[in-house]
Amino acid sequence: MTVQNVALPNGRTPQRVLGPPTPSAIFLVVTVHPGAEAEVKDFLGDVSGLVRTVGFRSREDNLSCVTGIGAALWDRMYSLPRPAQLHPFIEQRGDTHTAPSTPGDILFHIRARRIDLCFELARLMIGELGAAVDVVDEVHGFRYFDERDIMGFVDGTENPEDQEALDSAFIGPEDPDCEGGSYVIVQKYTHDMKEWESLSVEEQEAAFGRHKLSDMEFDDDDKAANSHLILNTIEDDDGTEHKIVRDNMVFGSVESGEYGTYFIGYAGDVSVTEQMLENMFIGDPPGTYDRILDFSTAETGNLFYVPTQDFLEDPGDDEDGDSPAGSPMDDAATSSSDESTGPTDHTADEADREVSDGSLGIGSLKRSRQ
Ligand code: HEM
Repeated sequence: MTVQNVALPNGRTPQRVLGPPTPSAIFLVVTVHPGAEAEVKDFLGDVSGLVRTVGFRSREDNLSCVTGIGAALWDRMYSLPRPAQLHPFIEQRGDTHTAPSTPGDILFHIRARRIDLCFELARLMIGELGAAVDVVDEVHGFRYFDERDIMGFVDGTENPEDQEALDSAFIGPEDPDCEGGSYVIVQKYTHDMKEWESLSVEEQEAAFGRHKLSDMEFDDDDKAANSHLILNTIEDDDGTEHKIVRDNMVFGSVESGEYGTYFIGYAGDVSVTEQMLENMFIGDPPGTYDRILDFSTAETGNLFYVPTQDFLEDPGDDEDGDSPAGSPMDDAATSSSDESTGPTDHTADEADREVSDGSLGIGSLKRSRQ
């Protein structure tokens, strides 16, 4: 499904979070040098122009770039309150496995049908940003055959689609100041392929809860408590399921023997993704952690807020005090300005933002689907 840059009824235009599936992606995580905030803020308004510059000549290849902003940079760059759920990535430290929080001020999620377009855009962007930023992580991802991850399983089958994707990925009217925005969590995983491939196919299937060749899901009764599917199914007490929108990519190097999955998950309510991570690393119940982690190491971890396109182009926090379309002006959003990357307690905020019917109420976006 594609959501192009079509405005919401409230006049705001979301970024292209729900782009069409593409075979190629580049994930760039950068940090911003102190003193370069104003320059970078201006640059973020120009990214869509650069996407047009590179992508217009090959429109059928669907070049897009989603920009996400980290909590610490938000506080440095904007005088506006932080979006309610934007905080440093919450490290998950289980007895056996850890999801670390790593540096990163901005995410550029670049997608296209062709890697050359992604690369050209990344090259121009970093050329423009020059000494204002350091690239702290760069991953060139590709879609593996049959939509499989490098562990051999089809990845993405249970992604929400259509209205459910809109409801899952975007912040809805329950947070009017951020409506049309999104939260994105990224993690770079590397896999111990030797160990993984030493398992029987049955053991591998038990780790995910799906059959490898056919991609058929196990019956619920047959899924192990520590399987990836059980731990990533988030349901309310009333049985309402909460989903996120993933667009994982494979990366690797035969020379170095590094084989990986770049996890990326968009959510209108980031507490859903955070609950998944807690289930995977701490376990549900604690100790029953995700079996795939015995073969997967989380190397990075970041949370970013994805503002609307309008906000990137005009955040409206200049001295004139204009309130822009899409700016989070809600007093309740003034969460801690702690720039550390340690755990942050935001449980009350999360609870406040839950809506009773499980929908994030972004129904108005439906009209913009193409
Ligand atoms: C090592 C990295 C990972 C790999 C290789 C991986 C792979 C997979 C595969 C093969 C599936 C089954 C097919 C599908 O529905 O997509 C799946 C499902 C899923 N994964 Fe992951 N995943 C990884 C990390 C994560 C993380 C970090 C999260 C959440 C924070 C996550 C959330 C989910 C969810 C929500 C589902 C669908 C569950 C369902 O509704 O059945 N995954 N993943």
